[in-house]
Amino acid sequence: MLLPFASHVSAAPWPVGGSTRFYDFKVQTTRITKLCKSKDITTINGMLPGPVVYAQEDDRMIIKVTNETPHNATIHWHGVRQRLSAWSDGPSYITQCPIQAGQSFTYEFTLVKQKGTLLWHAHVSWLRATVYGAIVIYPKNGVPYPFPYPYEEHILILGEYWYEDYLKLESDVMKTGGGPRTADAFLINGHPGPLYNCSQNDVYKIDVVPGKTYLLRIINAALNQELFFTISNHNLTIVEADAEYTKPFTTDQVMLGPGQTVNVLVTADKSIARYSMAVGPYQSAKNVPFQNKSAIAYFQYEGATLNSLPLSAKLPTFNDSLAVVSNMDSFRSLNAVDVPLEIDTNLFFTVGLNAEKCHSPTPNKSCQGPNGGVFAASMNNFSFVKPKISVLQAYYDNIHGYFTEDFPDVPLKSYDFVNGAPNNIPNDTQSVIGTRVNVLEYGSRVQLILQDTGILTTENHPIHLHGYSFYVVGYGSGNYNPQTARFNLIDPPYMNTIAVPVGGWAAIRFVADNPGVWFMHCHLEVHLTWGLGMAFIVKNGEGVLETLPHPPADMPRC
Ligand code: C2O
Repeated sequence: MLLPFASHVSAAPWPVGGSTRFYDFKVQTTRITKLCKSKDITTINGMLPGPVVYAQEDDRMIIKVTNETPHNATIHWHGVRQRLSAWSDGPSYITQCPIQAGQSFTYEFTLVKQKGTLLWHAHVSWLRATVYGAIVIYPKNGVPYPFPYPYEEHILILGEYWYEDYLKLESDVMKTGGGPRTADAFLINGHPGPLYNCSQNDVYKIDVVPGKTYLLRIINAALNQELFFTISNHNLTIVEADAEYTKPFTTDQVMLGPGQTVNVLVTADKSIARYSMAVGPYQSAKNVPFQNKSAIAYFQYEGATLNSLPLSAKLPTFNDSLAVVSNMDSFRSLNAVDVPLEIDTNLFFTVGLNAEKCHSPTPNKSCQGPNGGVFAASMNNFSFVKPKISVLQAYYDNIHGYFTEDFPDVPLKSYDFVNGAPNNIPNDTQSVIGTRVNVLEYGSRVQLILQDTGILTTENHPIHLHGYSFYVVGYGSGNYNPQTARFNLIDPPYMNTIAVPVGGWAAIRFVADNPGVWFMHCHLEVHLTWGLGMAFIVKNGEGVLETLPHPPADMPRC
């Protein structure tokens, strides 16, 4: 049905400033034993978490992904800004068709002006449950960190683990219309720690030398859970978030939504012992079940006696939204920022959950969702459906019928977003389903308010934008009110995922100077399944470095 990509060649329009790095990713079926049961999971190169991708700022990355499993796969390089390389971004049916069984695709992109900690993960179905790993981008040779050089660096990548297969988890949600099964464990670098069934010896550990300072690169790669992280008796000094330096600040805990990363410095300056690093749930929605046992790893001083239990860590309680916002103000860019001061595109998107009536629009669900209906989720009350070919391909090749360009700049109905349903009719909780995009002219200076809704329940949503980082210029509780909202235009943090406060709003700004199709969605996977996303089309500009190149020749076909 589709025309082949005739004579398309991939091109690196950026002057390659760094080295070129090659990686080989094999998507494989791997047998593992965890929590005393064996099962097959999908991995990259047989590893959970997958291989770490190391690079330096401005490096050209060439990563060949070969799919040796019977299921579809794609990899997304989360937080990589993909300057003029939208074809290599990875979200299925947005920028590419999935890599089918036995096929391969080579992702190529340049880490233009990027350094720090990011992650990669699968971006099709719920495959990222086990297909994820870290990206570590060092500064260029001779460029120091803007903080004292740590004695050692460690990656801590947080995940969720189920006995069930990812396809089953997803299809259960689709069939029942209800919520997802809670994870059987949280993982730290693939290890649950001692608190679960049959997991006493499956513990990750960092050996530390008394007096030394460590850099921890912490990544939340969980599927459906925002997570708190803490270390018993130790302070965390946050120096980076989403691969951008922050003004250092000290805290005893940090919350990460899925997709978010922080770098923290920890000094081993306490008495010699074995301490716990703990990971537990942040669950801001009401009546949502969650795994309440923590994943534990050890922060173990050289010379510690090991016959005693580790000093236990105190996590905030699961619904401690105060602990979350009390940190938010402290995230400030370290360096000078170029936040757009004049705005020409004002957008206002609601984010939240919906409930559809049982008889519509998906008749084969068994309606185990809210009020005997099925769950949905939306932006501006539109639930996003992925098309049958990628939006980028349809746009680029001018193939009609796969999406419409009518995603609105503001909600079609205005109402008391946080406290009431549309028109305050409590029964009108439904959303409208479709594949809608919002088109931005090249160079638009965008301000976007993300507003949580209480149609079903308010909830903190980690909203991720592909292809860009954005300045988080403000946030607050309740409905956004331009008269009272306070903005930081001096040193706002530059992020790729913003945890919009429960029952509140966040304001982000960016310049739309990277042409392509860019997904924006809640990074809680189940919310994405329910439709909590949309895509921007950013048009080409005039110049060479303002035009999306042709797709690579090996682009997967649908
Ligand atoms: Cu990390 Cu579209 O996701």
